[in-house]
This record gives sequence, structure tokens and C-alpha cells, in this order.
Amino acid sequence: MSYDFSQFGQHLGNGSGIEELMDDLGHALSSGADDIKMLGGGQPARIPEMDVVWRKQLDALVAEAGGLDRALTSYDPPQGNPRFLHAVADLFQKSFGWEITADNIAITPGGQTAFFFLFNLLAGRMADGGRKKVLLPLVPEYIGYANQGVDGSVFKAIPPMIEETGAHEFKYRVDFDRLEVTPDIAAICASRPTNPTGNVLTDNETAKLSALAKKHNIPFIIDNAYGAPFPGIIFTDATPFWEPHVILTYSLSKIGLPGTRTGIVIGPPEIIKAVRSMSAIVGLSNPSTGQQIMRPLVESGEILRLSREVVRPYYEAKCKLARKTAMEIFGDDFDWRMHRSEGALFLWFWFPKLKITSKELYKRLKERNVLVIPGEYFFFGLDESKWEHRDQCIRVSYAMDEAVVRDGLQIIAEEVRAASE
Ligand SMILES: Cc1ncc(COP(=O)(O)O)c(C=O)c1O
Repeated sequence: MSYDFSQFGQHLGNGSGIEELMDDLGHALSSGADDIKMLGGGQPARIPEMDVVWRKQLDALVAEAGGLDRALTSYDPPQGNPRFLHAVADLFQKSFGWEITADNIAITPGGQTAFFFLFNLLAGRMADGGRKKVLLPLVPEYIGYANQGVDGSVFKAIPPMIEETGAHEFKYRVDFDRLEVTPDIAAICASRPTNPTGNVLTDNETAKLSALAKKHNIPFIIDNAYGAPFPGIIFTDATPFWEPHVILTYSLSKIGLPGTRTGIVIGPPEIIKAVRSMSAIVGLSNPSTGQQIMRPLVESGEILRLSREVVRPYYEAKCKLARKTAMEIFGDDFDWRMHRSEGALFLWFWFPKLKITSKELYKRLKERNVLVIPGEYFFFGLDESKWEHRDQCIRVSYAMDEAVVRDGLQIIAEEVRAASE
């Protein structure tokens, strides 16, 4: 039998490069083979201290009268649990002086869904028949955005400037001279820290992007999936940023609760109202378990302490170790560079003399049971299809066990050395 799919169905229901890749990674993992070095996913690490926190919170919920009811057996309103929304508003008001209330906050089933709502709310085919796009001031950018437009790509990306910042180290910078907000731009969006590179927009860059958006009367979306103040997987000074035209997304995934699917959107009330309406139509209500586990930690401010004193130091130590290991293993006998690590869970490698594409390198590594993500998937929305840099990079997660990261890097070095000029 074959059925006709709508345009929406063709764009979202017909597979995509990234679905194949994620499927590939998922099957490789579930095969249970012991020798797989899984350096491909965005899975956060299991941090023992955080596991203790989750168990304690769950025990308290079960013990409390009405706790289970709130966490499991009731529908919340589509905008989110009212007490959780107030707790989040209070946290940001008290900690940063932001003038926000519960009307500025909506919950979604994970940050991923928040982006699906926001991009399709603001960009794509408009009521007047024209098309609008989301401007990405810095690519490579998060692979999960790439296929989210319901009627095709909704992105316009500006290639970054590449700055050499040390031996074997570089950093992408926003090319403000090329960054132009044309009438077809609906919003500016960046992840901070950036997945895949670990780049963190400086306070100055963030303020400049915000001013640009404000000047053109469009929102500036900042994806804080790894950002400040929670989960706080950020190793430089970066101040949380908000202004009335800014849309912030947060998530409970990278602090340790990806299975609860909890995303938090902070933004102008009219955007929040629209997200709430979309939540009702698409899903009636949102998962409540994450909100209930986390609410006491938000009300007490403990979420900020845990981010600062447990989560950040844990990842910072792991990141340092992985970078040191890469330095030792890769050495000086082939051309390689690593993006400066300022946050998130990944090392981003650039091999300028690679004779094969990053996709071919991915296949060769997979044959040796090392799973990474080929870089080209992160360069969407660019006009310059011939920029060879996009074929020369890979993303490697450092969140796994030290031995897995070391063995994986060893095999990556062997394959890249063999495939370099
Ligand atoms: C930059 C970025 N944004 C958003 C997400 C979505 O995460 P979740 O839907 O688990 O909140 C991720 C997940 O890896 C991410 O890396």
C-alpha cells in the first residue's frame, strides 16, 4: 500500500539524514557489544551526586500526600504546572533581577519541542505568502534544529571567522560585518554554549546580537541547553542574559533528567501564549514528573548550587582530561585542531588535511566500533555549499568513561593519520 503524504508529512515523516544517523547510533548501542566506543550522542553523564539528589527528590514526592498525584496521575495546564512556573520566575527575578512573571514562562516536552514550536511559529511560510527565516549568526550549530521547519529549511546561516587561539586550537567568532538582518529574517538564534563546538558567545557578542534583533523588532533566541545558570556546563565567564525581546530556552536534560522531557521557555507573553496554544493542540499537556522533581530545588535555589558546585566541576574536569588525552595521542605528526572548549559536552575536531569527507571518516570509525558525529550535519543554512571546512570536522562526546574516550581517540588518530595528506 502506498499513501499520499502531505507537504508536512513529506518533510517530517519521510526520514532525514539525521534520523538515519541517530538510528545508526542507537542500534549500535543497543546491540550491547562491549567494545563500542560511543562518542556520538548528546547523552549526559551519570553523575553519582546527582543520582543521589534524584532518588531523594523521588522518595520525598512518594512520601508526600498528593505528591504522586502531581507527578503522575494529573494533567497540568498546557503552559505548565502553575507552581513550577512561579518558582522559575522567582528564581530568575531574585538571582538576576529580571522582571519576569509566570506569564513569561511555558513548559514544553524538552527543549527540542520548544524549538519545533518557536521556529515554526516565527518562520516558514507567512500569512502573506512570503517566507521568513531564522538567522544563525554562528555555524556549526545544533544538528537538532536542521530539519524542524514543517515546509522546508527555515535557516540562513553566516559562516564564522576562524581564529587560531593556540597550538592545535581554534575558535569560531561571529562575523558581525557579514551579519545582516534582511526583511525576510524572523529571529536570530544561537545555542550558548554551542553544540557541537563548545563555543560560548561572550557577553559582548550576546549584547550585540540582542541589540541587532531589537533594532529590527525581532526576537533573539538563546538556547541554554548547557547554559547558565543551569545546568551551567560553561567554563568561561558568561552572564545569563535576558531582555524583553529575548526568548530563552532551558532544559532539565543536561543537569541529569533527559527522560522526564522538560523544556522551559522564557519569553515575551505573546510568544508564551502561542507556545501554550501549540502545546494544547499537539500534546494537551506536558510531562509533569520533571517539574515536580525539580520544583523544590528551584524554590530553594539549590538547582543553582548543584549546577555550580557539582555539574560544572564534573564536566570541566572531564573536558580537561579529554583534551589532555587528545594532545598526547594526536601529537604533532598530522594536521589537527580542536575548538577551544568553553562549555557543553563535546570536543570539536578539525582535520584540515583530511582527504576523505567527515561522513566517510565516520563510516571508517564505525567499522572500528567508534561512533562520532560527522561535522557536515552541523553546517545547515549556509549558501556556500562548497566550503570544504564542513567536510573536515567531527564531534566527539567526552561525557563517557575516561577509558572509552581514550580508546576512541586512539582509533580516531589512526584513521585520520591514514586519511590525511
Ligand atoms: C543545543 C541543544 N539544544 C536543545 C537540545 C534539546 O534537548 P532536550 O530536548 O533534551 O531538552 C539539545 C540536546 O542535545 C541541545 O544539544
